[in-house]
Amino acid sequence: MFAPLNLTAYQSTFTPRNPEANVFANERHWDHWLCKYRESLETLVVDIETPAHLTTQERSAIQARLSSANMVVYRCGSSEAVNRNQIARLAEQFGLLNPTHNLFAAEDGLSEIEVKADGPSSQYIPYTNRALNWHTDGYYRSHKNPVRAMLLHCVRPAQNGGSLEAIDSRALYGLLKQKDHRFTEALRMPDVMWIPENQAHGANREASLGPVFFFENNCLQMRYTARKHNVVWKNTVLISEAKDALEEYLEDPSIRFRYQLQAGEGLLSANVPHRREPFFDSDARAGRLIYRGRYAQPISTEA
Ligand SMILES: [Fe+2]
Repeated sequence: MFAPLNLTAYQSTFTPRNPEANVFANERHWDHWLCKYRESLETLVVDIETPAHLTTQERSAIQARLSSANMVVYRCGSSEAVNRNQIARLAEQFGLLNPTHNLFAAEDGLSEIEVKADGPSSQYIPYTNRALNWHTDGYYRSHKNPVRAMLLHCVRPAQNGGSLEAIDSRALYGLLKQKDHRFTEALRMPDVMWIPENQAHGANREASLGPVFFFENNCLQMRYTARKHNVVWKNTVLISEAKDALEEYLEDPSIRFRYQLQAGEGLLSANVPHRREPFFDSDARAGRLIYRGRYAQPISTEA
């Protein structure tokens, strides 16, 4: 009898000669992948009953979405019954443990993203009702220590606005490569994007210099922010053109998932680039509240 192949161990030690294997290997493979990805954007919502204990069917439905689009929206049967401990248990079922600490995270590692009228967090856009432009979480970290997965769980939606938009990094990479392979080569260079240090409001963050796209164990990762301040791009014509092309694809609705999370729903993703539209809440009710978890582990898409 053969012992069953341990896929996790196999993948973690497998370093391909060509890191662009799989979806980007050849034109035919890429076209097929992109077509399936576009179709999958219509079916990214999965209903679940008990987040802390998914059924086999719920788990494989979520994994199928993660596999085709690197993201999924789960919708809990009863939003009132979902607490932050259950959100942590849900994440654990996809290999996501101990959210990475960040400036305003609570003790369990989840951050409560809501409008803060004062205090240090009010200085950061996530804690306002303003639009948040395209970014991957932790873009200011070194690519050697990235945020590989993230979760946004909606406790209360805004009265108006606050929709999320997200795009699988693989779609952006593949389209850029198809347009001009020098674009992806340029954005993979280790000195493309520099983020200066941030010592304000207790952030205590070192500067980081790194690529936009990089591969880890054959898995594409992305480090990106569309912001214009506190980011310095390497100054070459090719990088400037590649960046412009990337910005164009970020506006392509055919590869973009747009969704307004409702109470009890959450987005689980391999930290693909995303943005948030501005929102409005009246003073008469409690405002938009999202729990956010960021994880160093890659999200598991294995059944
Ligand atoms: Fe984010």
